[in-house]
Amino acid sequence: MGASLPGRPPFVLRARILTPLAEGGTRYEPDGRLAVDARGAITAVEPWPASPVEPADGTGTPAIDLRPLVLLPGMVDLHVHLPQLPNAGVGAGLDLLTWLRRYIFPLEREFDEAAAEDLAPRAFRAFAAAGTTTVLAYGAVFEASMDASFRAAEAHGIRAILGKVMMDRGSYDDRLPADRVLDTSLRQSADLCARWHGRDEGRLRYAFTPRFAVSCSADMLRESAALARSTGAYWQTHLAEDHGEVREVARLFPEALDYLDVYDRAGGLGPRTILAHAIHLSAREVARLAETDTAIAHCPASNLFLASGAMRLARLRAAGIRVGLGSDVSAGPELSIFANMRAGAYTQSGLRVLGEDDTRPLGPLDWLRLGSLEGARVLGIADETGSIETGKAADLIAVDPRLVAPIEGVDSHDPAEVMSRLAFRPHPDMVRAAWVRGRRLDGPPGVA
Ligand code: GUN
Ligand code: ZN
Repeated sequence: MGASLPGRPPFVLRARILTPLAEGGTRYEPDGRLAVDARGAITAVEPWPASPVEPADGTGTPAIDLRPLVLLPGMVDLHVHLPQLPNAGVGAGLDLLTWLRRYIFPLEREFDEAAAEDLAPRAFRAFAAAGTTTVLAYGAVFEASMDASFRAAEAHGIRAILGKVMMDRGSYDDRLPADRVLDTSLRQSADLCARWHGRDEGRLRYAFTPRFAVSCSADMLRESAALARSTGAYWQTHLAEDHGEVREVARLFPEALDYLDVYDRAGGLGPRTILAHAIHLSAREVARLAETDTAIAHCPASNLFLASGAMRLARLRAAGIRVGLGSDVSAGPELSIFANMRAGAYTQSGLRVLGEDDTRPLGPLDWLRLGSLEGARVLGIADETGSIETGKAADLIAVDPRLVAPIEGVDSHDPAEVMSRLAFRPHPDMVRAAWVRGRRLDGPPGVA
């Protein structure tokens, strides 16, 4: 392995390359050449030429040899809570609503501007170190902390879609009189969207973020969805994560057919909506998600950590619903999307053991696709990121397969085996570098 890592485009890398392809299937180059132009776009993905040739892309840049590192597309984390990162790994064993009250609301209450200025830069470095180059995240209810979080994402270089949490029922923010909460939250969210949605040629975007039906009035859900529609921003919330939550939503919205219908009546369903969890759903709800092209963030480690339920992933995919992966820190204990692939695969195995899923199990390359290209499809940005293909942005990570080998010296050039070890034996240091648009992100440790 050679020279120092490129920090900015243009550059050429020599490495193993493993990526899902937009047209279907996977590409693996055991000795590949990846060229990135000055704008950070991928101009070539090809086998390393047998005889030295002048690069056709005219970069004239000498290649940096990263072998045996593997280049993968950067991972897409579709669901995570920025203020909750310090709590990751703590609090298993409680039901969702108790966990929120005991651990989460007190934590988010402290996420003011100063706390965000302190935490957010470290958070984005931690995402990059975990291999995530695109993140869809919730903040807390405070406007200034969201500006601070966006500023940190802007400086760091990660792709970030962020949203101020909206709550007008049982909020932890007692600084506002109750009759001003709804209007203030809508106005502040609209202002944040106006300031940040589309910044840096779309690298930063806004998601209107009503927390979930338990924390929001019908007015809050409806008005936030209308803002998302009129601005072209995203709308994100939680759906059917845990049985106690589902019962509470039925109590609060007796007129709704079911949980999804609460969001449907608010005008919240559609292609730019991302609903997290979506575990306890009727056949009607699954059909309605498909009909409206609403997307799902599957958060398997979180669902096991809080014992929320076992996602019937196959049934959502069979219905044609777009699904990607989310870490859901801190209900999920790990930022790594690779660790979430493992949790997801074990969940599907558990369902099979119990005789509750007889569909073909997803293989490691399917999990790679879910964690990258499918995540990008959920966000509607698959023409730009999610796979290593000519014309896309160079949103890449370099991982070291030696750190996931079962024993020193064991190696493989079978793409499913390579990916299987990354998913089932993820190592905290295996991501050595990450780039967005060819710009290297702070966080991963680099190469020796
Ligand atoms: N439902 C409403 N808020 C939250 C949250 O912060 N985390 C999780 N996992 N579920 C939620
Ligand atoms: Zn969540």
